[in-house]
Amino acid sequence: MKYLVTGGAGFIGSNFVHYLLDNYKDCQVINLDKLTYAGNLDNLKDIENDPRYSFVKGDIADPELVNKIFKDGIDVAVNFAAETHVDRSIGDPADFITTDVFGTYVLLEAARVYGLKKFIQISTDEVYGTIEIGKSSVETDQLLPRNPYSASKSGADRLAYSYFATYEVPVCVTRASNNYGFYQYPEKLVPLFVTNLLEEKPVPIYGDGKNIRDWLHVMDHCSGVDCVINNGINGEVYNIGGGNERENIEVVNIIFDQLKKPDSLKTYVKDRMGHDRRYSLCSDKTMALGWQPSHKFEECIRETIDWYVNNKWWWEKIKSGEYLEYYKKQYVDREIAE
Ligand SMILES: NC(=O)c1ccc[n+]([C@@H]2O[C@H](COP(=O)([O-])OP(=O)(O)OC[C@H]3O[C@@H](n4cnc5c(N)ncnc54)[C@H](O)[C@@H]3O)[C@@H](O)[C@H]2O)c1
Repeated sequence: MKYLVTGGAGFIGSNFVHYLLDNYKDCQVINLDKLTYAGNLDNLKDIENDPRYSFVKGDIADPELVNKIFKDGIDVAVNFAAETHVDRSIGDPADFITTDVFGTYVLLEAARVYGLKKFIQISTDEVYGTIEIGKSSVETDQLLPRNPYSASKSGADRLAYSYFATYEVPVCVTRASNNYGFYQYPEKLVPLFVTNLLEEKPVPIYGDGKNIRDWLHVMDHCSGVDCVINNGINGEVYNIGGGNERENIEVVNIIFDQLKKPDSLKTYVKDRMGHDRRYSLCSDKTMALGWQPSHKFEECIRETIDWYVNNKWWWEKIKSGEYLEYYKKQYVDREIAE
């Protein structure tokens, strides 16, 4: 089977490349990635010489390049490539629309023209918007995205469906919850807080810290996507949740406990604009395909924290240059709430 993984140098995409190579002896994997600030070939260092793997540096929004790749024949395309950070989308949404919406269109168009067995559009639980306590989102719920990131992901999600409904491209859409695991760029909560604390720096907690996210181990996400590739019905959407809803402050407290750091390093900052209070997924439909998350949150979040402790070589070089400028604008210059 020949897979095209877009965004394969990012957090989830690189874990998915590892997953495919570990689980399918005879697979071929092409990784198409633009290497934005979030793309990092260090994530793939251990497999870069695997003869089953090849890397193409390029943009999913470049039709000439994308058509060339599809023309050579692709069995399965999995579109992870995206601008992914909500805060950055609030500051500057343009790249989100270009990559997440237009880039997805370019891939779908190539899939329509050259054909393939399955196109997986990686979407997110954020497309449902904020969910009240007591409810969980099912795939038929309306989409109510409330920030430019989730709105652009919703656009791509429905555009992918339209290519199934209109042109019969074999599309499935997956909507996963908050991933945690190795190789996550340190702008997201877990690696940001762990690496800040390892540098004895304060951590910025938004609002009252009580926003709720469902935590999914990245390898459970990968196995969920794999299950949908093999068993998903074309045109359908599949939620992939971890079943681990936690207030942000609970996750923060686990990190502080593990690293034995004082509460004085907790800084409460002004809340994110339009911050969704809670996401929650019902994943019964994906489980009915034969998938189950297998990673226990309490154990695996600690294993993840340890990975960042033991892999400073990976994150220390990221936390310089552009990252420091972004960090200052995002958190240091931000008004302190409490
Ligand atoms: N991280 C999560 O918790 C989460 C949850 C649900 C869904 N998702 C979705 O999963 C996907 C991957 O998320 P992630 O956290 O790994 O993101 P990430 O930011 O770590 O990685 C994104 C990757 O896409 C690449 N990229 C960006 N623009 C590109 C372009 N125009 N052409 C080619 N490559 C480009 C980047 O270089 C990077 O390697 C995204 O589609 C995201 O919306 C993420």
